[in-house]
Amino acid sequence: MNRLAACLVFAASLSLSVPVGAQSDLAPSERKSSYEMMGAQSRSMQDDDMANPAMLSVLDGEALWRKPAGEDKKSCADCHGDARQSMRGMAARYPSYDVAAQRVVDLEERINLCQAREQKSEAFGRETKDMLALSAYLALQSRGMPIAPSQNAALERSIERGRAAYFQRQGQLNLSCANCHDDNWSRKLGGATIPQGHPTGYPIYRLEWNGVGSLQRRLRNCLTGMRAQVHGLGAAELTDLEAYLMWRARGMIMDAPGVRP
Ligand code: HEC
Ligand code: HEC
Repeated sequence: MNRLAACLVFAASLSLSVPVGAQSDLAPSERKSSYEMMGAQSRSMQDDDMANPAMLSVLDGEALWRKPAGEDKKSCADCHGDARQSMRGMAARYPSYDVAAQRVVDLEERINLCQAREQKSEAFGRETKDMLALSAYLALQSRGMPIAPSQNAALERSIERGRAAYFQRQGQLNLSCANCHDDNWSRKLGGATIPQGHPTGYPIYRLEWNGVGSLQRRLRNCLTGMRAQVHGLGAAELTDLEAYLMWRARGMIMDAPGVRP
């Protein structure tokens, strides 16, 4: 059975058995990362930096960090120094409110803002090899640290919007994110185990993609599976979902870059 057919059967079983989905957040004590729920093979690939294919992207990111660009030929490192210190813990508190942009931005958009404002270079597009490399390098600097959203009124509103979208039934299958990730995690769907959906490991290397991808790419995959409206990369709706997911995973340990089947 292919994944869409599996989804349809699954959706039908849900609408029969669970007329009203959960509306409350998972209790912190029941949370499990996707890493904890993965098979031994994927886990050992993620554990070993020599075997984790995302580490090649990290190496590219480190080179980009030091590469001069823009009018003044400045590199990220020229202003920020050693990322292992200056960017330690940074990715664990994104999305964050950006004062100058006056909106909540995710890690990728924050990189773009520095490219445009500070480096005056051309911004990397989302899901490009360079963007994934630089964001993987920066996310690595938060490995082992707890997810810690910052406190800000605009961020709180973004989290609330993301939360509402998360519990909203949508698309042709009339499913909400919560129907799978809160009510049915650990069940099998078309050969995949439904995880709880905590974004501790992004960007990830996904074997099915045969490459590295961002959290927004993953969210678009789920929206496609739900046959719902698939927001464009960079859309505020996706940033809101990212903000809610990071809040939902607050305190969990970052393990980027992850490996997924
Ligand atoms: C000319 C100096 C300069 C260059 C070059 C520069 N930045 Fe920045 N960057 C800054 C300043 C200043 C801030 C703080 C701005 C603020 O807090 O509003 C910042 C903030 C950031 C932040 C947010 C940090 C946080 O704690 O929230 C990230 C991420 C970042 N820069 C990444 C980069 C990357 C990646 C590059 C290279 C592509 C880069 N920067 C190039 C000056 C620079
Ligand atoms: C029909 C069930 C289903 C629905 C509905 C669904 N997902 Fe998923 N989601 C999955 C499955 C299955 C995976 C794992 C895919 C795999 O491993 O192939 C996944 C993966 C994820 C992940 C990646 C976790 C990780 O660590 O890699 C996130 C985040 C996520 N979903 C968020 C969402 C959000 C947000 C929504 C609502 C917009 C949503 N999902 C709707 C089934 C679903």
